[in-house]
Order: sequence, then C-alpha cells, then structure tokens
Amino acid sequence: MATDTAIRVASLAKSYGELEVLRGVDLTVARGSITALLGANGAGKTTLVRILATLLRADAGVAVIDDIDVASEPGRVRERISLTGQFAAVDEILTGRENLALVARLRHVEAPRDVAARLLERFGLTEAADRRAGTYSGGMRRRLDIAMSLIGEPSVVVLDEPTTGLDPHARLEVWDTVRALAAAGTTVLLTTQYLEEAEQLAHQVAILHEGRIIVDGTLADVMALVPPATIEYVERRPSLEDIFLAVTGAGTAGPHTTGEER
Ligand SMILES: Nc1ncnc2c1ncn2[C@@H]1O[C@H](COP(=O)(O)OP(=O)(O)O)[C@@H](O)[C@H]1O
Ligand SMILES: [Mg+2]
Repeated sequence: MATDTAIRVASLAKSYGELEVLRGVDLTVARGSITALLGANGAGKTTLVRILATLLRADAGVAVIDDIDVASEPGRVRERISLTGQFAAVDEILTGRENLALVARLRHVEAPRDVAARLLERFGLTEAADRRAGTYSGGMRRRLDIAMSLIGEPSVVVLDEPTTGLDPHARLEVWDTVRALAAAGTTVLLTTQYLEEAEQLAHQVAILHEGRIIVDGTLADVMALVPPATIEYVERRPSLEDIFLAVTGAGTAGPHTTGEER
C-alpha cells in the first residue's frame, strides 16, 4: 500500500567498533518533498544515508523505503533509491553521454542511448555531451552525477553533500537541479553542512547531532528555534532592484531613503 511517507527511520543505531555514530535516529521523509539532513562534519550523515541505500547494515532499529524494509529486502529497496555520493561517480575518461549510457546498460534499462539523450537534455548537458567528463566544470560534473543517479527512475534520490567543494555559481546550478527533481515528483533527501543550503532548498529539515535527530520539522519550525538575527547595516552597492525602486519612486523604506541623511 502506498503511503505519503517515502522514508521512515526508527531507533536506528550504528557503531564502528567503540564509536557510536547513530544512537537511535528517528526520521520520516514525506513523498515528493526535499528534506535536508543537516549535520557537522563527522555527525554521521553519510553513515545514515548508506544504511538507507543498503550499502551498510544498521546494528539496530528499522529503515523503510516506500514501505519496504532495507535490511530484509535490500534488492527491492535498491530499485527505488539512488545515492549520489560525496565524491562524484563520474568517469572522467568517458564523455557525458558515455557515462550515462554505461549506467543505463548496467541497470538494464531499455534503449540506453535514448535514456542518455533525454537526461542530457534535461540537465542542460546536450552541448557538452560528447566531451570527456574530465573537461566539465564542477557544476556540470555534479549535474551529470545527479543525472546518472536518475537512471532506472528511482522514487527516492539521496544526495550526499551535493554542493560541498563547489564554487558559488556551481552551487546555484545544483540547487536548480534539485528543485527541478522535486518539482518532477522525486523525493529528495540531501545531506549538507550548510544551513543556507537547507534554507534554500528544503521543505523539511532534520538536524543530526551526537547520534540523534535533535530537531525535525518544516523549515519555518526550525527557523523559529533560531534566535532572531541581529541587524547590521553595511555599505553596499545598490542592486538593480534598489535602482529600479529609486527611479520609479517606490523605494521609500529604509534608512538610506529617509531624506535625513546625505
Ligand atoms: N568505516 C568506518 N570505520 C570507522 N569509523 C568510521 C567509518 N565511517 C565513518 N566513520 C566515523 O564515523 C563518524 C561519522 O562519519 P560519517 O557518517 O562519514 O559523517 P558525516 O557524513 O556526517 O561527515 C566519523 O567520526 C567517522 O570518522
Ligand atoms: Mg559525509
């Protein structure tokens, strides 16, 4: 039976030897949402998503993807979830098209070259399709990586730190890609160390700290827990919008337009 929950995790525990990384993690991810799993470096984000993707076994607790138990039916879970790792799985020697076609053949999808062509188009990589991936920018490479993870049409896509190491422009490209994924109905769970990334993308935010989810809720719920920002005034060049508001006479708010200064 289909429910509105794409991922359900309860009391999940995992240690590496003496190191208790997950100490009873509870998390639910709504179908079709973007959920950000926030946590510092070493918090256990990768450990958690590797358990969800059946690459690692938990010591205790349950994890369920689309109502299928990760531990008892890993094969069925793998058909529904893809994990894009922190370190891109792209083969630099192959072209973008070849990378996609290779994954399509490995996953036994029909018409692998057509699938590759469609994904290249969807991710804005058609022009670069026949260049070696080694020549791609960071953002293009990450987009290709995400495109590769969509082959076989998983209902849940997990992106482990999709923008770590990217420059600001590439980060924006990846954000747009993630938004487009969710808009097309895919459930996205992404891990990040950046609050700003969660703010930009996520409907739901969960903070992993010392082995547990310490905060879980909508972005508004989580933001309400943070003390209000202190307001600082900084000198900056006017944006086009400021200029537009000034020249159209609409900009009457703010200290720089009160007429008492300058
Ligand atoms: N295979 C492993 N063996 C031993 N310790 C590990 C292993 N993988 C991760 N760790 C440790 O577990 C903790 C959590 O790691 P990880 O899940 O990668 O965190 P994150 O992805 O949030 O940075 C870290 O202290 C890390 O060093
Ligand atoms: Mg990690």
